[in-house]
Amino acid sequence: MMNDKVTIDPWGSSQSTDYSRIIEQFGLSSMDSVSIQDPSRLHRRGIVFAHRELDLVLEAKRKANPFGVLTGLMPSGRMHLGHSMVIDQVSWFQKQGGDVTIAVADLESNATRGISLEEGKKIAAQEYVANYAALGLDPEKTTVYFQSERNIVQKLGFQLGKRTNLSELEAIYGFDGSTNLAHVQAPLVQAGDILHPQMEEFGGLRPIVVPVGVDQDPHLRLTRGLAAKTNWFNVSDAKMGLQVGVSVQEENAFAMGVEANGRVNKEKQKQVFSQIVDSISQLGFSDIMSNPKHGTVNVPSATSRDKGSIRMALLSLERKMGGMGLLAPSSTYHRFAVGMTGDKMSSSKPKTTLFLGDDVATAEKKIKKSFSGGQATLEEHRRLGGDPDKDVAYQYMMYFFEEDDSFLSEINQGYRSGKILAGEMKQMCIDRASEWLSNLSEMRDQTAHLVDSFFE
Ligand code: TRP
Repeated sequence: MMNDKVTIDPWGSSQSTDYSRIIEQFGLSSMDSVSIQDPSRLHRRGIVFAHRELDLVLEAKRKANPFGVLTGLMPSGRMHLGHSMVIDQVSWFQKQGGDVTIAVADLESNATRGISLEEGKKIAAQEYVANYAALGLDPEKTTVYFQSERNIVQKLGFQLGKRTNLSELEAIYGFDGSTNLAHVQAPLVQAGDILHPQMEEFGGLRPIVVPVGVDQDPHLRLTRGLAAKTNWFNVSDAKMGLQVGVSVQEENAFAMGVEANGRVNKEKQKQVFSQIVDSISQLGFSDIMSNPKHGTVNVPSATSRDKGSIRMALLSLERKMGGMGLLAPSSTYHRFAVGMTGDKMSSSKPKTTLFLGDDVATAEKKIKKSFSGGQATLEEHRRLGGDPDKDVAYQYMMYFFEEDDSFLSEINQGYRSGKILAGEMKQMCIDRASEWLSNLSEMRDQTAHLVDSFFE
């Protein structure tokens, strides 16, 4: 039903929190489908709730193969707790061995928020990267770049633009005739951000994971689609095993043996198919059936677990033959912490969140005034109990400030049963937030000298 649909708008001010519906409607995979070794706080608590093809990344890690992590920052406002969630995940992937690339969306911020490139640079360093260093990102394994300065990002955006059209953007983003074109260009540049770390000079073919809030999923859907459309070889499930389909396109017709007059050069075609067979047999498969007439190669003994390695082998082949060989990005999705007032967290509404630069007194004031899941009177609270799912103080401890799972579940139960009062919950949060913010501020001082070394 139309009116039953959730819409996700990366630029909007509202936010759906119906996560199971989001999973279903946009074809995300639940985190239950993968097993995470050494899970972080956000994993253990179900805050990272879904993914797309995270298996590729976990598999790379298991085999000690390279993988990368990419995220971006919008240099406009101040960095707040919501932003720190992505950095928590980036940091986790970095500890798992991933290399990290971070895009400063200075072009997007300039076009959609009127921030000059100059100003964007300053905000990125002083407000964001200073906190990344303090939060523990390793400058040796992190590269921060500006969209405006990486030609390849813009070039990729332009090239990929050819693979989509206004109707697709309308469908994904809800654009219409009045949408300004910065909103059309920004997603294409973002696709360039997401895909370029796979290019040879930025580390080459490897899985890249993009941890995001679910509001950014439209960009991932677009980017994954664009990457897939450029692929010369597509691997899919067959009746028996897996099937490789060859995609002949304008870009690759010559390499595939299709001549200008449309005639097929049989000799060249044969070579292409034997290269496909070679690539797959190098992985250890022997029963490979090549069918150039149908444009397919079948591997009956392959299972869906082999899909990843066959895809990678064929992307390498595509690159050798002159194609881009782009692997669709993997992604993970986190839930949003509630804003402190009960609305969405937003940099432009300081009361809705804690900024990483807030001092202890400011934090205390905001937490004292924050939306509470307690009852209206003491008597009622003791009798009916509070609701930790709505209580900002509890939620912020769960999302940000409290590492100890068993302590959390204790106060969760204590709150529900009415033993713990709303004011007590707030005080616990204030204590932890104060400690967290003072630590961070101290770390910022200690790591300030590293900020420059994050930039390429
Ligand atoms: N558009 C993102 C934002 O509004 C910033 C961004 C730019 C980004 N490039 C990216 C995020 C690539 C993830 C991946 O915050």
